[in-house]
Amino acid sequence: MTQDYINNNKERFLEELFEFIKIPSVSADKKFKNDVLKAAGFLEQNLKDIGVDSVEVFPTEGHPIVYGEKIIDENLPTVLVYGHYDVQPADPYELWDSDPFQPVIKKTDIHPSGAIFARGACDDKGQMFMHVKAFEAMYKSGELACNVKFMFEGEEEVGSKNLEKFVRANTSLLKADVVLVSDTGIINNETPSICVGLRGLSYVEVEVTGPNRDLHSGLYGGAVANPINILSKMIASLHNNDGSINIPGFYSDVIEVSKEDRFQMAKAPFKLNEYKKDLDINELYGEDGYTTNERNSIRPSLDVNGVWGGYIGEGAKTVLPSKAYAKISMRLVPNQSSSKITDLFENHFKKIAPESVKVKVTPHHGGEGVVIPTDFPAFLAAKKAMEKTFGKTPIPVRSGGSIPIVPMFEEVLGLKTILLGFGLDSDVIHSPNEHFGLFNFYKGIETIPYFYQNFTELMKNK
Ligand code: BES
Ligand code: MN
Ligand code: MN
Repeated sequence: MTQDYINNNKERFLEELFEFIKIPSVSADKKFKNDVLKAAGFLEQNLKDIGVDSVEVFPTEGHPIVYGEKIIDENLPTVLVYGHYDVQPADPYELWDSDPFQPVIKKTDIHPSGAIFARGACDDKGQMFMHVKAFEAMYKSGELACNVKFMFEGEEEVGSKNLEKFVRANTSLLKADVVLVSDTGIINNETPSICVGLRGLSYVEVEVTGPNRDLHSGLYGGAVANPINILSKMIASLHNNDGSINIPGFYSDVIEVSKEDRFQMAKAPFKLNEYKKDLDINELYGEDGYTTNERNSIRPSLDVNGVWGGYIGEGAKTVLPSKAYAKISMRLVPNQSSSKITDLFENHFKKIAPESVKVKVTPHHGGEGVVIPTDFPAFLAAKKAMEKTFGKTPIPVRSGGSIPIVPMFEEVLGLKTILLGFGLDSDVIHSPNEHFGLFNFYKGIETIPYFYQNFTELMKNK
């Protein structure tokens, strides 16, 4: 019944998603504040239309949180569904092949039956909307197996600061048995997987100041330290020749993954040549002694996300700039503390600065990593659901991305999270031409109801 309902309403589901995606809910940019509000309003209305109760848009100091629930029986388990309706900025616009907020369907080699091209198509509007439509199908078919609570936020891409406050203030409203999130991916459309790990994040901005004003690079060049030259050297020193990170104490809390676990992880299909070809690079990079998939999941990393200063306009301007800047992110593994790493970075960066410059370090949002066990009812329910819809057992995979609210749910609500994502790495989330396969969108809607069924069954027998 539920699956028939999905089949009979496929086109409408997609039309509604398009409407949702067209609202440019960019959380990072004040210009879009009203659109973020509009996206919250769209969700509010959609949840009400499909029969969700107590739907409410909770204002916060930032963007609002949309909440709704369907309690069918206090004795049945409750699934708390989380998603984010905010999206990353679409910049640089000129690199998009079509308008980022006018979704279009195009076929690709990886998505022969078509993919939705738009900002937020995969991260996370397309994925969170699967839950709304899966609920609609279950509820309208009279087959909702347990209680549901929806919590959708508009600040994930800017650090979820107000969500944490909301969760802390509403622990009884949010009482549930598990959190269900679709904001990660699978290996490929033939190889289902479930994300069982996320990296933490420490993010800093640095400012290096040399002379008190921009100088003529002829009159002063060679005699006064150039902050861009200095910053480049400082950044270069943050990695050792073996690819490891050169900040004293950086690795002290890192837990080595066991040989057996690494052996299991290495079974996930991966083609190094295709990986290189896709990125148009001749050689890979990383910490000695680890594979590519290990380097971007079970090992920490440090990357400059942006660097600026001096003259970057047209032509040449001979200038020795007063200031240089960089944004630096460190992806952390579970047990590394984000605030401790931020402190270590700040102290180290100040220490390695020569006397010729002054250094300021400003921490941005961060978060902790997480590992999800594979032997509790919710995981088994997810595994069984994917087995049903893919015809294959999903592989547990640790991802390199970060969703800092996952460890927060565990800390504040005592709840584990199931990361039942359906995106692909090649969907280029956060980049121009982000997309989400139609196969993936519908596969998600089909799989979610089986999760509810299996979870309710497994909890009964617990
Ligand atoms: N959905 C992503 C994270 C993700 C994507 C995890 C794919 C695993 C696989 C999320 O929206 C995101 O972009 N997170 C940020 C961190 C956040 C604090 C801004 C990230 O990972 O950069
Ligand atoms: Mn996301
Ligand atoms: Mn994101």
